[in-house]
Amino acid sequence: MADATELLDPGERLGPEALRALQLERLRASLRRAYENVPFYREAFDKAGVRPEDCRSLGDLARFPFTTKADLRENYPYGMFAVPQERIRRIHASSGTTGRPTVVGYTDGDLSLWSDMVARSLRAAGGQAGDTVHVAYGYGLFTGGLGAHYGAERLGCTVIPASGGMTARQVQLIQDLKPGIIMVTPSYMLTILDEFERQGVDPRGTSLRVGVLGAEPWTEQMRREIEVRFAIDAVDIYGLSEVIGPGVAQECVETKDGLHIWEDHFLPEVVDPVTGEVLPDGAEGELVFTSLTKEAMPVIRYRTRDLTRLLPGTARVFRRMEKVTGRSDDMVILRGVNLFPTQIEEIVLRTPGVAPHFQLRLTREGRLDALTVRAEARPGAAPETRDAAARAITAAVKDGIGVSVAVEIVEPESLERSVGKIRRIVDLRPR
Ligand code: DLL
Repeated sequence: MADATELLDPGERLGPEALRALQLERLRASLRRAYENVPFYREAFDKAGVRPEDCRSLGDLARFPFTTKADLRENYPYGMFAVPQERIRRIHASSGTTGRPTVVGYTDGDLSLWSDMVARSLRAAGGQAGDTVHVAYGYGLFTGGLGAHYGAERLGCTVIPASGGMTARQVQLIQDLKPGIIMVTPSYMLTILDEFERQGVDPRGTSLRVGVLGAEPWTEQMRREIEVRFAIDAVDIYGLSEVIGPGVAQECVETKDGLHIWEDHFLPEVVDPVTGEVLPDGAEGELVFTSLTKEAMPVIRYRTRDLTRLLPGTARVFRRMEKVTGRSDDMVILRGVNLFPTQIEEIVLRTPGVAPHFQLRLTREGRLDALTVRAEARPGAAPETRDAAARAITAAVKDGIGVSVAVEIVEPESLERSVGKIRRIVDLRPR
């Protein structure tokens, strides 16, 4: 048996000081690459009165301007690229719900780095060469499928490129091809779970050992539900297209205590979402990333809109981020109270008689917004159980979040199932 540290790659074996020195060197190079090759960054830095060489310590990064999704949209499609087109080997695009997508590009070097980071993530999740990996993230412009795919190959795994959808076939592939690892969104994992049960196949009896789940917020309660019902370890993987795709941060299976950010390549900051002020580690705010080694599309202080906090390293030298609570865009403000879908998820999943499927319906009554939590009854739940569940959810939202919502317990199998990223909020308010 190899010593645990022998399995780490050189980046993971750095000591804290060597890591910081490497980050600074790479940061200065990345700022230079952006300034010299992307007119948008040159203008933004000039306007803020900073030059790449003004960055002499990691703290100096705070003097540089932020980059937002709107900036990427304005430079659609290729305006943020720092290399000539012939060096761009691949394009992906983010899952924007409205308007233009955000296009991202990769050089050969970027694709290789990405595979290394996903391979590192899979290893942290308990994977190793020789494992069979079922990839049920969507293949295509979305970074989930192809990102997971090449990373698993890089680690030396056998890959089953199932993609999302055709759920009955997913169950068959899992039974016949016997993967040890599945990479999928947590919400689609639940859809697959339902399909196992519909086919009368015990989901606890599969070859699966580990689920590498991400691309959307999910809670500890959801982890428990998936771990118990599949008899697997479920760990969190985080990433976003603008930074690279999946494999920006990953939870280690032995600790399951938040996600180690691969900060030898992606430098995190947490800032106050309103003032933009950099917050100390431990404080909750918006996660911001600066790429340190990316070539095709360096990002400088990119505002993710994801809310979390930075914590010290444990199983790895790198800092951790706490599980993402939600995106600032998904926050519902109800009579002055901020509410995230994950808060409702925690409540629904601990309520007896209801399934882990729910939806949040936003309507307007007069001048006030109203929220209805629609949660599915578990099959066979008696009417009294359903009534008790509705009362329990109403009370828990009122006591825990401090706002009144309506709760509807709907029939089993009546809510739409996810095949990829789930949309929890159905906004029926008049425009
Ligand atoms: O979702 C990349 C990815 C694919 C990550 C597969 C993990 C697994 P985008 O489509 O650009 O990229 O969406 C990025 O998804 O800013 C978060 O809001 C959300 N997100 C991604 N991973 C997590 C996670 C991919 N583990 C956006 N927890 C991000 C919570 C997540 N939210």
